[in-house]
Amino acid sequence: MDGNGRWAKQRGLPRAEGHRAGAESVREVMNACKELGVKYLTLYAFSSENWNRPEAEIDALMTLLDHFLDEKAEELDKQNVRLQAIGQIERLPASTRERLARIQEHTKDNDSMTLVLALSYGSREEITNAARRIAEAAIAGTISPDEITTDLFARHLYTADIPDPDLLIRTSGEMRISNFLLWQISYSEIVIVKKMWPDFRQGDLFAAVEDYNNRHRRFGAL
Ligand code: IPE
Ligand code: MG
Repeated sequence: MDGNGRWAKQRGLPRAEGHRAGAESVREVMNACKELGVKYLTLYAFSSENWNRPEAEIDALMTLLDHFLDEKAEELDKQNVRLQAIGQIERLPASTRERLARIQEHTKDNDSMTLVLALSYGSREEITNAARRIAEAAIAGTISPDEITTDLFARHLYTADIPDPDLLIRTSGEMRISNFLLWQISYSEIVIVKKMWPDFRQGDLFAAVEDYNNRHRRFGAL
């Protein structure tokens, strides 16, 4: 979800207004995914690098996130949606962590769709943590180095029980990955959309899925 700040700047508004408008896109895209029968929707809401932004902007984002969670808690459950969070959740404010923990627990048995929020998320940290935990297990003697397979490695990532994405959409026209799911997107189809995130709505999602439907996925084979 990229381009909130530029969207606001183009309108002479503070960046926080862009994030607020972006939250509206989140609502619409969530509902559209549900309608399409998407089983997992992962939103890159806050990266580990986003901690380097000015404190006021971080505060605005965390406040918006808290509001979003308060507003959506009941609805997610009613729609049979499970919430999961990936990232260095321990770095988030206590108010946000409490909400996440409560909603995750409350929705853990829902199975129509899983909404994955990537928060304080960085793929390099995720991969490094996995390597560290596997190294610890090897030193403790609970696994031997020849048992370290790609499957075992994947089970040590935050996404242990989340399938790899089929489709990755990035808005605002930027052609980069920005430390997002580096391991998991090895064979994902990528759609880059020029629109800023606050302008990305249901029709844009449908168009991206249409694009995806016309791709021929070969996974390195013929
Ligand atoms: C994406 O919009 C939202 C978050 C990172 C939370 P940006 O804030 O990155 O907006 P630009 O890229 O500065 O326009
Ligand atoms: Mg950006």
